[in-house]
Amino acid sequence: MEQNNPSNDPIPESPAVKLIEQEEEVFQHVNNPVLGLKPIVKKYLTAPENVEQKGNKFFFRDTEATVEVTIVTDEIIRVRMAPHSVFLEEFSYAVPKLEVKVSVFHLHENENEYRISTSTVNCHISKKDFLVSFSDSQNHVTSADATPMHWEENVQFGGYYVFGTKVCHPEEAFYGLGDKPTDLNLRGKRFVNWNTDAYSFAWNQDPIYRSIPFYISLNEGIAHGIFFDNTFKAHFDFGSEDRNKTSFWADGGELQYYYIHGPNMMDVVKRYHLLTGTHPMPPLWALGYHQCRWSYYPESKVKKVANGFRENKIPCDGIYLDIDYMDGYRCFTWNRKYFPDPKKMIKELAADGFKTVVIIDPGIRVDDNYWVFKEGKEKRYFCRRCDDYFMEGHVWPGRCQFPDFTNPEVREWWGTLFDELVQLGVAGVWNDMNEPAVFGAGTFPDDVRHQYDGYRGSHRKAHNVYGMQMVRATYEGMRKLMKNKRPFTITRAGYSGVQRFTSVWTGDNVASWEHLRLGNVQCQRLSMSGIPFCGTDIGGFSGEPDGELFTRWIQMGTFSPFMRAHSAGDTKEREPWSFGEPYTAINRKFIELRYKLIPYLYSTFWEHHRYGFPILRPVVMQEQDEINNQARQDEFTYGDKILVCPVMEPGQTSRKVYLPKGNWFGYWDNELIEGGREVEVATPLETIPLFVKAGSVIPEYPVMQYVGEKEIEEVKLNVYYSEAPANSFFFEDYGETFAYEQDIYSEKKFVASGKPTSFTLQQSMEGLYTPRYENYHFNVVGLPFKPSKIIADGKEVTDFVFDAEKLILDFKFTKNFKQIEIA
Ligand code: GLC
Repeated sequence: MEQNNPSNDPIPESPAVKLIEQEEEVFQHVNNPVLGLKPIVKKYLTAPENVEQKGNKFFFRDTEATVEVTIVTDEIIRVRMAPHSVFLEEFSYAVPKLEVKVSVFHLHENENEYRISTSTVNCHISKKDFLVSFSDSQNHVTSADATPMHWEENVQFGGYYVFGTKVCHPEEAFYGLGDKPTDLNLRGKRFVNWNTDAYSFAWNQDPIYRSIPFYISLNEGIAHGIFFDNTFKAHFDFGSEDRNKTSFWADGGELQYYYIHGPNMMDVVKRYHLLTGTHPMPPLWALGYHQCRWSYYPESKVKKVANGFRENKIPCDGIYLDIDYMDGYRCFTWNRKYFPDPKKMIKELAADGFKTVVIIDPGIRVDDNYWVFKEGKEKRYFCRRCDDYFMEGHVWPGRCQFPDFTNPEVREWWGTLFDELVQLGVAGVWNDMNEPAVFGAGTFPDDVRHQYDGYRGSHRKAHNVYGMQMVRATYEGMRKLMKNKRPFTITRAGYSGVQRFTSVWTGDNVASWEHLRLGNVQCQRLSMSGIPFCGTDIGGFSGEPDGELFTRWIQMGTFSPFMRAHSAGDTKEREPWSFGEPYTAINRKFIELRYKLIPYLYSTFWEHHRYGFPILRPVVMQEQDEINNQARQDEFTYGDKILVCPVMEPGQTSRKVYLPKGNWFGYWDNELIEGGREVEVATPLETIPLFVKAGSVIPEYPVMQYVGEKEIEEVKLNVYYSEAPANSFFFEDYGETFAYEQDIYSEKKFVASGKPTSFTLQQSMEGLYTPRYENYHFNVVGLPFKPSKIIADGKEVTDFVFDAEKLILDFKFTKNFKQIEIA
């Protein structure tokens, strides 16, 4: 790889560096089969000798190494370290374009330190020992190196092991890191990022499918984030080895991290999205219910399942074909015995509202009579070992080779392979086994070479991004082929930034109550780690749930951004009606609720896409200064208005729920409850605790069997009284094209505000899309007075019903409105 020297200074030829040879820093390479025993020495930065500024970059140098500090925005600062002062070329799959958005920053120097200040953050570099720390404008230190950044030469592969170590405070909590199957707070634990196929993973198992090297620290109510953008096997220690230290290190690449200022956790997440991008607006149908199984075949079985939904009047949009639809598991082929006419089947399913999603894995069967293999071989698109042999491994189809998705030409080619599937009417693609998984070996050997978008590297560097680049190729190819219609994609593996291309599911979980709980935490964690469109295999992939567990899972899944039931092939039937009554009716009620709330979820998606808000928000994100919230990991808010607390124990008839400060209304009974305390809530099988924040306007569509079944003629607005003014958003557009990128959407903003004897709801609109309906059905909850007059845009609405016992006001208005006044 070509390396450049951004400072353009001569690189010292043989740097004379004094090594810190403390005893504990010299240890043996016991596991290295090539090198045997060899002493390895950790080298630490010593003292910066000078600083040089080039635009928004500052270079600090000791006798050997250089540290680059880049001011990205007022709140984001990037730190890089080059052990021999030679930086790698700037390239990141996670951060496609580093946009610098800061105008004013200053460098100060005194006898102890250099300090670079923006309007909100100071970055300090101590002159004595090169410690880097960050503080806010009140000089409160938010993050500080505990030891100087350090490295270790890697004699086997070249490059360095690179290390950063920060001070860990006694009360500090840590969040993020993607899909780790453990408690929400990562404090006291150590993790590895190395994408791994983890069938039936257990609580605390590590690593599993994804590598998201981004964490949020919360200390004394103040948050900041660290995004360690390094694709090599990376490690994080949150006060586990030494309770006073938080460390992150990688087996190669650069020590490169972004310090992301808070002080709110929400700001940290939003700023992380500024770097790594947000999820595009999904096709509206993808917010509906999805039914999957390994596998539904032949065609008659697929149809039977689809008909089952319509007969049982249970809404469903997505139906999945797992690996058995293919011919010998060869991607982009069909098993004609099971599926003699896929086009006809997909068309018939589509006529009944089902969108067909097919699985596509990365392993391409070695078979000279198979067109995908032949093309890939001719074009030299498959990965090779260091000595030029092909990377071969066994997966479902048998002996396979694997496209190098880190090569842009291969991605382009891969994208074109979906042509026939798109012609057949396939609406979505499911990328699996892309850690990459290989039977027996686990994954590729380290020496496999990758093109890495021209910045070549071994599998050590490309492993964690392989799956992300696969689903990127899939998404970009589908987008082109679908002629600007939004494709739906889902992936198992991923790296930071994967959200720009896809949804994810948490992999092969188990039908157990423990996994229900785990899935809840994983989805919250994924959401706060920048992956909003996530869900679990509802019911558990392996094993058998009973009716109660399945129903509790459907209830939780109703509030997962992605809602799909899936199960392994050796399990019993697993459709929402498979467990008989009372389960079928309850499952139906919740899936219907999912459909009613689609406009709310879609609006929340818009808030994510446009502004970087997560969709699921743990309560600790709502009230980060309330220390007890750190341990509350069952409940979360769905968007910022609906608080959900799934039931996660069998036979539970009531449970404690903490309501953050403010007023809340029970969703089922509209009872007003003051928050800032725990309440005991009944949890019969028919319900889970759900609360709506006072002042919210929750838009609701009529229940349909699938998205777009009927033209929407009327939208219900559930308006929850509040004295304090509160904002709500309601986003709509065509739901299937990218026209929203040209402002063809409607974003309605509602402001609700009350007085003891009156209530006002204002609406303003932005965007160029006009929904066809003009009818609104108002359901105003919690009015503290008996209304006698409703004025909508100056006109009196005389037809209304007020339930004085339940305090609910019901009326309709058949025009788009600007202001409703109730007195
Ligand atoms: C993997 C996937 C699972 C899928 C199966 C067969 O185990 O995680 O969802 O059903 O492969 O394709």
